[in-house]
Amino acid sequence: MESVSQPLRMGMVGGGSGAFIGPVHRMAAALEGIRLAAGCLSSTPDKAAASGRELGLPDDRNYPNWKAMVERERLRPRYERIDFVTIVTPNDTHYQIARAFVDAGIHVVVDKPMCRTGVEAAELAGAVKKAGVACAVTYNYGGYPMVKQARHMVRQGLLGAVRKAVVRYHQGWLASAVEKQGQKQAAWRTEPGRAGAGAIGDIGTHAENLLAAITGLRIASVCADLATFVPGRRVDDDASILLRLADPAAKAAAPVQPRGVISACQVAAGLENDLSIEVFGEKGSLAWRQEEPETLIHRPDGQPVQVLRRGQPCLCDAARAASRLPPGHPEGFIEALANVYRAAARAIVAGADGPLEHDYPGVEDGQRGVRFVEAVLRSAADQSRWTAVG
Ligand SMILES: NC(=O)c1ccc[n+]([C@@H]2O[C@H](COP(=O)([O-])OP(=O)(O)OC[C@H]3O[C@@H](n4cnc5c(N)ncnc54)[C@H](O)[C@@H]3O)[C@@H](O)[C@H]2O)c1
Repeated sequence: MESVSQPLRMGMVGGGSGAFIGPVHRMAAALEGIRLAAGCLSSTPDKAAASGRELGLPDDRNYPNWKAMVERERLRPRYERIDFVTIVTPNDTHYQIARAFVDAGIHVVVDKPMCRTGVEAAELAGAVKKAGVACAVTYNYGGYPMVKQARHMVRQGLLGAVRKAVVRYHQGWLASAVEKQGQKQAAWRTEPGRAGAGAIGDIGTHAENLLAAITGLRIASVCADLATFVPGRRVDDDASILLRLADPAAKAAAPVQPRGVISACQVAAGLENDLSIEVFGEKGSLAWRQEEPETLIHRPDGQPVQVLRRGQPCLCDAARAASRLPPGHPEGFIEALANVYRAAARAIVAGADGPLEHDYPGVEDGQRGVRFVEAVLRSAADQSRWTAVG
């Protein structure tokens, strides 16, 4: 890849007026000094143009559709072309948009789920490798400093061998049929053809990634029970999944295969964005909760409970580096996403993919997330039979 200079120029597809996550991506990227240089911000040309104008995009970089954006950006001289594109459109469009930018040699940041099918995910992964571009998938919860600390403590062996991980991702915003009341985000998320799956695709993928990021384990097989509570809804809104886990780095299989549980629910009335994880090992356990992200609880077996807090000097290098403010000055969702941007930007500047060296979720994480959703859907459709993650 040609080298790039900072500050990076970002393009964006999606994230127009009234969208949820696109504006959050712009805020996170701005924390890293990344500026929006071009976009096709909405699905209709008029709305895209108005959204871009509101953000001060020049007319010649404010594109009516993403195909025009790829074509015209790739022809621009290197010093003004976008360095990468962020894709924050509904799930059904991720693959074709990401694929077009990757094939044009433009680095990609794409929100989760990366694609809708394992076939698409494998093709995208192949294209990313061939083009030699970075592809970051914004599993932003791994960007929290205390999640990096938890990962460090597991890697250091403070828990001993991991026996069980329990991830709970419960939201209440879909407890009633808001999709029939004009709630735009709910409308496409409950359309099977656009979303791919319901709660399991929308938030279950975050749970899968958080589990993998902290424990280093991978989900080998699932036993899944999906439910749809809201009458008339066409996708699942509740998922209860038993997991059998495997350590990809282990030389021999563990005497007892580690276990896990994911509960992903979007009809948990009264809850907001309640993502939490507990990891239980031979020598102790860890607990972290997204709505209180600055605290990590460590419970060493037979010892006093430790409450670790963001920003303290006792934390690991990655956790300290991911922290922007002194302790007691709360950081949150936007900063965690900014940490994904920081790592992806480093990979882009270095001209390589490098999710492991630069510490961001890459195309393999995206692919694994899609395969996990597929395995859950297969298991649920087959009377919750244990099903391998392909
Ligand atoms: N990482 C996270 O925490 C997180 C949170 C929310 C959403 N997401 C993901 O982000 C994506 C967007 O979700 P959202 O809630 O912001 O949706 P949204 O409906 O609020 O916004 C989608 C935007 O994409 C635009 N769009 C649709 N088709 C387009 C096209 N062909 N070209 C250009 N723009 C197009 C829409 O006009 C809209 O502006 C989804 O894949 C979702 O899963 C991730």
